[in-house]
Amino acid sequence: MDPEDIAKQIGHPQKGILAADWSVGTATKKFEKFSIPTDGETRRKYRQLLFTTEGLENYISAVILHEETIKQKTDDGVLFTEVLKEKGILSGVRLDIGQEELPGFSPEQITFGLDNIRRRLLEYKNLGAVFAKWRAAYFIGDSKPAREIIDANSTLLAIYSLFCLEVDILPIIEPDVLMDGSHSLEQCAVKTEEVLTRLFQKLSDFKVDRKKILLKPSMVLPGKESGSKSIPSDVASATLSVFEKVVPVDVPTIAFLSGGQTLEEASANLNEIEKMLKPGLWQVTFSFARALQETVLEMWRGHDENWKMSQEKLLENARLCSLARQGKL
Ligand code: G3H
Repeated sequence: MDPEDIAKQIGHPQKGILAADWSVGTATKKFEKFSIPTDGETRRKYRQLLFTTEGLENYISAVILHEETIKQKTDDGVLFTEVLKEKGILSGVRLDIGQEELPGFSPEQITFGLDNIRRRLLEYKNLGAVFAKWRAAYFIGDSKPAREIIDANSTLLAIYSLFCLEVDILPIIEPDVLMDGSHSLEQCAVKTEEVLTRLFQKLSDFKVDRKKILLKPSMVLPGKESGSKSIPSDVASATLSVFEKVVPVDVPTIAFLSGGQTLEEASANLNEIEKMLKPGLWQVTFSFARALQETVLEMWRGHDENWKMSQEKLLENARLCSLARQGKL
């Protein structure tokens, strides 16, 4: 499949992405909160619960898997990527291996994951992946993110994208301007604009074909510790004014991450973005991990007797996101 077609298929008018790519470390922390034992088997079971949910394909066009999960199978021995394919859902894999603080720039981080990238891409493509994901995370502060951090991460995103495109894998590019901190909505807008501007400059320097990428950004939001909460119409207009300025129109699809917002917040904000979006720009949808899953995990708690209602919860959450994706909430 051509990466441009994959990006368009993911941007389906009623659907979005289920980001199920929590690392082993993140999944462990989430599971511990509900005293769920954490090993490869419980993570496999949890992902099986998500992917075998009946009707998921009505709201979800694609699933991002972790490197561990893409090799895992159902109880009946069927690869998860096959289960998803049966439903018409595309599979992809998180290719970065996480962030490390850069000495001299702490707590700012750069993302790692280029080792063996050619081999890993081919291995995951053979297992059914048609796209990959790489996340860069940015803190907002007085002089944060530093220009050097933005440049380093944007360069890594461009290099990763070239390796993906070499084997016709769609690169999902995730510049995540974090909600942590006490910054205002306006400060977030300024920093997001800077991050996206440098990103698209680097993509252009490295001659990455913008028609063959999918952008997974954060919304423009006030910091969690700012004491203020913006109403959806303010979030939407702040987000869209930045994006209209700096995201080229030939990028086919933008899929927003939830970034620690609740399902209600993230979907209300997306809904407003859809309503305000000018025609002729990009497809805009969701690529949520926490917003879609937190309440599902809380309901499951590792117990088989909660399986069915947890799947119903996931479906209900996905349906809400699908309505938001259409601006019909
Ligand atoms: O890496 C982060 C995920 O892809 C998006 O997660 O929706 O919880 O921010 P989130």
